[in-house]
Amino acid sequence: MLVHITALLLSAAAPAICWDGFGHQTVGFIAQKYFTSQANATVGALIGLSEAFDIGDAAAWADTIRDRDNLPWSKNWHFINPKGDDPEKHVCVVNYPTDCVNQNCIIAAMMNQTSIVLDTTKSSMERRNATMFLLHFFGDLHQFFHTSGFKLGGTAVRPVCWGTDAPCDGNRNLHSVWDSAIPRKLRGLPEETDRFQDKAAAKAWAADIYNRQKEQGISTDRVCAKLGGPDCILDWATESNKLVCSHGLKNGEAWILSHDLSKEYFDENGQLADTQVGKAGLRLAAWMNAIASALGSQERLGDDL
Ligand SMILES: *[C@@H]1O[C@H](CO)[C@@H](O)[C@H](O)[C@H]1NC(C)=O
Ligand SMILES: *[C@@H]1O[C@H](CO)[C@@H](O)[C@H](O)[C@H]1NC(C)=O
Ligand SMILES: *[C@@H]1O[C@H](CO)[C@@H](O)[C@H](O)[C@H]1NC(C)=O
Repeated sequence: MLVHITALLLSAAAPAICWDGFGHQTVGFIAQKYFTSQANATVGALIGLSEAFDIGDAAAWADTIRDRDNLPWSKNWHFINPKGDDPEKHVCVVNYPTDCVNQNCIIAAMMNQTSIVLDTTKSSMERRNATMFLLHFFGDLHQFFHTSGFKLGGTAVRPVCWGTDAPCDGNRNLHSVWDSAIPRKLRGLPEETDRFQDKAAAKAWAADIYNRQKEQGISTDRVCAKLGGPDCILDWATESNKLVCSHGLKNGEAWILSHDLSKEYFDENGQLADTQVGKAGLRLAAWMNAIASALGSQERLGDDL
């Protein structure tokens, strides 16, 4: 409960969180369903997963430490704010590495954390954190306002209305609507829940998405997993960024500020949260499967020597 209250306080003070714990946990649970047995064992050992700290908790971890603990420098790793973005003119574009100032953005962070997980000379604590950062950033990358340069990723598009007519809730902004209000409405989850309800809902959402992906013949087979460079991550960031033009801000800011977003905006766009969380989980799994496989072949090499 304490964690949840803190999260609420934080979201009032600094609404730029990301999918709330519920969304991040769902991404972790989806990925786990796609893990090879090697990846399941590797991720479990890297993080030290248990009943008390499962993959859902691990995927949500990076938000719990960001503002309170001793990793404040990880704050900018959760997003990228491309300078060329102008969704009002239907321009959405990510320029990498120019938009990633001082390598301090989600794309560079995902590459950096990947190389740390792969580096067996690093401490187990550093590799544990790096694994959990990765689980988290796959979620963030697919919340498309984390890849938008428009008004600080939509956090400065405020106040927006949700389930109320004007005057709207001053704490709510377009970014936070996508973090939290939309996924919760989509899954019939009240806005205030305790962590047990969140976890149960995350597991149910993950199972539901996984089953639908299975029916559609989706698997990790064709998912990009080139660990050594920015290619895959940049592709996903670009795809996500474009969704801000095509959906998130399709009608422009003035429209957003003058409508109750829980109505037609939700009806038209809400399902995208489900699609994005599903992609995040699937892609995360492919990535971790590739990491586990690369680490496995290093070990075999070691055995041969
Ligand atoms: C994957 O690992 C978790 C613990 O990390 C374990 O609870 C689960 O049973 C494993 N799944 C499979 C299919 O081995
Ligand atoms: C890479 O990660 C390490 C540890 O998490 C951090 O100290 C370093 O600043 C990071 N580098 C970049 C370029 O993000
Ligand atoms: C890992 O994260 C914890 C916070 O959970 C922090 O205290 C610790 O310093 C981090 N370690 C490294 C090596 O980044």
